[in-house]
Amino acid sequence: MTKSGSDRRISRRTALGMLSSSVVLTLIGVGVKAAWAQKPAQLDLVIQHSAHKITEAVTTDLISTRPDGPPPVIRLKQGVPFVARVTNTLPDYTTIHWHGIRLANAMDGVPYLTQFPFGPGESYEYRFTPMDAGTYWYHPHCLTMNQMAKGLTGVLVVEEETDPGFNSEVVLNLRDFRLRPNGEWLDLWTARGAARSGTFGTAVTANWETDPVYDGQTGGLVRLRMAATDTTRIYKPYVVGADGVVIATDGHPLRETVDWPSEVAPYLLSPGQRIDMAIRMPETEGAFVDIMSDLPGGSRRLARVRAVGANAARSLSELSQLPQNDIPNPDLRNARVEEFVFGWTPEGGAQQNGFCGTLGYSFWSINRKPWPGDAAASETRGAGPLAVFRLGESIILRLRNESPNDHPIHLHGLVFRPLKSNKRTIASNWTDTVLLQRDETIEVGLVADNLGDWAFHCHVIEHQKTGLAGFIRVEA
Ligand code: C2O
Ligand code: CU
Ligand code: CU
Repeated sequence: MTKSGSDRRISRRTALGMLSSSVVLTLIGVGVKAAWAQKPAQLDLVIQHSAHKITEAVTTDLISTRPDGPPPVIRLKQGVPFVARVTNTLPDYTTIHWHGIRLANAMDGVPYLTQFPFGPGESYEYRFTPMDAGTYWYHPHCLTMNQMAKGLTGVLVVEEETDPGFNSEVVLNLRDFRLRPNGEWLDLWTARGAARSGTFGTAVTANWETDPVYDGQTGGLVRLRMAATDTTRIYKPYVVGADGVVIATDGHPLRETVDWPSEVAPYLLSPGQRIDMAIRMPETEGAFVDIMSDLPGGSRRLARVRAVGANAARSLSELSQLPQNDIPNPDLRNARVEEFVFGWTPEGGAQQNGFCGTLGYSFWSINRKPWPGDAAASETRGAGPLAVFRLGESIILRLRNESPNDHPIHLHGLVFRPLKSNKRTIASNWTDTVLLQRDETIEVGLVADNLGDWAFHCHVIEHQKTGLAGFIRVEA
């Protein structure tokens, strides 16, 4: 995790020397600093079973892109093309989705909507050029209540064109596993959970570890990137033992300040969301910074950063603001309003469509219609778009939660910003996932600047898979 100043200089020089060098794989949690891929613009990801000790014993049928640990942090450079060749060695179908990345619709990885899922022994090539810098992530979009629950969620970092000047980075992939202490799986989901707040994991991890320790230079500036890739849990993170500032949320540099989270007022990081913090390490070598989360049953530590080496004597004021990503601002005075209501399904009953994994129930709906299942994504099969936007149109989406549960509402392919809530003051920062609390109505604004059919769903996967899903079409 730790990169010293000189390492970074070497890395940059190597990057220049390799011309098209765009992919850096950082193996998380194993102390490997930066392993440069052989073919820099292309990355091979092999989806496979993985073994790792998460509880007291090794669990052997986790799912990852490595035999023995979490999917790696993929590091790309803003504006540099990327090719991921994904090979599926599982006995089931899959696709990979690049959460938060604005890309061509065909590369979005949504089964039946943008591509056919690929089966055992098959590969699929994803190509895109990341236009936005920031913290994103990747996960399957088929059989998600199995594949994501068993580990297939990784962090995707898009580096700014110019180095923002940190001494090092710590990347935390936050997620739970539903395991017994002996390493055996509990049911990955429950009907009871799916109909309420979701089914929570038993092992809370960062990078598949319980309370891991990373290094940061004494008195140095660490960029902490956290991604909530769990299927259910809303994390409530805060940092103890260091000063810091929030610099980005959901990938994008802030337009409006977000308070430095504390134990009494932690940040709400719901499934799918990310937060980037600048942390100033303590000046005493050996001191620890604790990354905490308020969880049911009390606060607990997710990870630690230990001060190592000579005092870098850095100051937070040395950091300049991250450059804004180039996102079109909606014309709010002339924007069209589209209403979306999230709630229980009036129909209830079983969901029939088994492709890419049905849970067998419909509990939830958008605009009172439960999503009938992934393979239904066409008019002829009865599930057309929830809304149609014209390319370039400014839209206000009025998101109304009629249910007593929280829903992190996620839209693919487009970036939006909250405008107002009926319950709280909400920062108007660019995002792809907004947490809609119980009985809350939030208006968000966007410009429909990306053609295609874009999945729109709750990121509590049990909700998504029992009806709280659909798509929005952007057409010319
Ligand atoms: Cu993380 Cu449909 O997405
Ligand atoms: Cu997404
Ligand atoms: Cu939900």
